[in-house]
Amino acid sequence: MMSTTSMHGMWSSRLAFIFAATGSAVGLGNIWRFPYTAGESGGGAFVLIYLLCVAAIGVPIMIAEVMLGRRGRQSPINTMRALAVRQGAHPAWQLLGWMGILAGLLILSFYSVIAGWTLAYVFRAGSGQFAGIDGPGSEAIFSALTADPERLLAWHSIFMALVVMIVARGVASGLELAARVLMPALFVLLVIMVIYAAQAGDFGAGLGYLFTPDFDALSAHAGDALLNAMGQAFFSLSLGMGAIMIYGSYLSSQASIGTNVAIIAGIDTLVALLAGLAIFPIVFANGLEPSEGPSLIFLTLPVAFGQMPFGALFGVLFFLLLAFAAWTSAISLLEPVVAYLVENKGFSRVRASLLAGVAVWLLGIACLLSLNEWSGFTLFEMGILDLFDYLTANVLLPLGGILIAVFAGWILDEEVSRTELGASNGAWFYPLWRGLIRWVAPLCVILVFLNAIGLI
Ligand code: PFF
Repeated sequence: MMSTTSMHGMWSSRLAFIFAATGSAVGLGNIWRFPYTAGESGGGAFVLIYLLCVAAIGVPIMIAEVMLGRRGRQSPINTMRALAVRQGAHPAWQLLGWMGILAGLLILSFYSVIAGWTLAYVFRAGSGQFAGIDGPGSEAIFSALTADPERLLAWHSIFMALVVMIVARGVASGLELAARVLMPALFVLLVIMVIYAAQAGDFGAGLGYLFTPDFDALSAHAGDALLNAMGQAFFSLSLGMGAIMIYGSYLSSQASIGTNVAIIAGIDTLVALLAGLAIFPIVFANGLEPSEGPSLIFLTLPVAFGQMPFGALFGVLFFLLLAFAAWTSAISLLEPVVAYLVENKGFSRVRASLLAGVAVWLLGIACLLSLNEWSGFTLFEMGILDLFDYLTANVLLPLGGILIAVFAGWILDEEVSRTELGASNGAWFYPLWRGLIRWVAPLCVILVFLNAIGLI
């Protein structure tokens, strides 16, 4: 018999899980990464493929991850080992957990640097620096920040300290309350930004760019664009590294996994689309480039805040809430490794969080230096920050996703997944999920990989 609770605590209710998992999913990935990746990959066709990836790969894998987590009730490493051994499979399935820890540390190292930009922008907005600026003015503010390693280090350090603080206390108690208030607030603010963009920006051009699939634009960088869309789906939904698995391990056995996942994935997708709708109209109205890259929202939004009524106030609120959304995601990136250190090394939560936090902090220094002092150092034409971003979202997370899909679809007893998904007496969605998890999800990931390396 597997345990029905986790030693690390449990969510107080089903709603608490939804808030925490949505907090993990919604973050910089939606508001910073989605628009710039869409812009780099040509717009509408990317968005369409992204949506297909969320539905056909992301949702079934998220269901599988929550299910495996709830079944195992331990850190992803121990969960995978225990579940594999119970099925008579090889304990090497725990490799999935190790890969996840690597991915989590790498993601958090650059994630924290970008969250640092966000914190810095709270003060830029508050001090009125955006008033009346145009595209080039916005660019000057941004470059001044990224060229300054000390400033970047300070913000990166502050953000990591905030993350370690919550993880050290235990996420089930630390996270819930904040996520209930601040996430809806971010959502409201995003809607206000879309309304503003609809009036002041070139809304027609923005809409057309996001929702008119132009497969010629896509085929210009086809291999990468497909891979980028799939990678973005994994990144945005927090899949493939055990973050959602460990949040599932704190979920009560009664809660319905399918319904919860549908809600979480739905909100995550809506937030990404809203971010696109807030940003691209401003991009087109101000002569900015959609393919600007990771700086896109930091160049675009200040122009909007600089023109709109109460722009300073909205700017402060927006960047503050974005930093908060990043924070609730960052916590989930650290939780799997902390849970492992507590379970297997006997560390206290405080010690485990500090140790993992320091490792991420050091990696983050390499990321922030890649923006200035080390900008000459590149691998595959990418600096360290971009490389970590690409390697995790486009390689490690989808690889983890294949392993999760194969384990849940082929190794785990059908009876177990039926019971966990509440389909013991038949349910329409179960055969659909099973088909997606056994065939569609793993095959799609493999095909996209093959396509990206030019084999098909
Ligand atoms: N989903 C988060 C975002 O969109 O910002 C980032 C993330 C969190 C990725 C947790 C992966 C993860 F495991």
